[in-house]
Amino acid sequence: MKIDLYERIILGLTVVMLLVFIGALATATLAAGIHVPGQTGRIAPDEIAKTEPFSNPGLRELGPGRYEAVMVAQMWGFTPSEITVPVGARVNFRIVSRDVTHGFNIEGTNANVMLVPGQISQVEVLFNRPGEQLIICHEYCGTGHHLMWGRVIVK
Ligand code: CUA
Repeated sequence: MKIDLYERIILGLTVVMLLVFIGALATATLAAGIHVPGQTGRIAPDEIAKTEPFSNPGLRELGPGRYEAVMVAQMWGFTPSEITVPVGARVNFRIVSRDVTHGFNIEGTNANVMLVPGQISQVEVLFNRPGEQLIICHEYCGTGHHLMWGRVIVK
């Protein structure tokens, strides 16, 4: 079978692109550890109130400069709605939603996750400048969506 030169070039480029995509996928999953949340990150909304640490949300110090902030989102607020950390604190946020899908965005940081009911969302943030930073729900969650906010005070 005779294949035209241009067809061979296109076929070759297609194979190269496939290999590039497979390589990118393998690098992301195996080397960078990027993957969809697994079973360990799940909790049924009606279990939140009776399951540690979500039954007792708040900020905990794990070690020098390291903190864990456990938060619960519900229409239309976060519990706790405010946390205070020292400058230089590295905070691991673990957040769940009690009702519908919410968002969790801390302005000026890399924190930008969705809070899907049944799923535990996690994001780590380094706070190295003093001031107040807003926590915003950036996923439309009902008539009080625009009132759903909190804050991180860094001092
Ligand atoms: Cu919660 Cu919008």
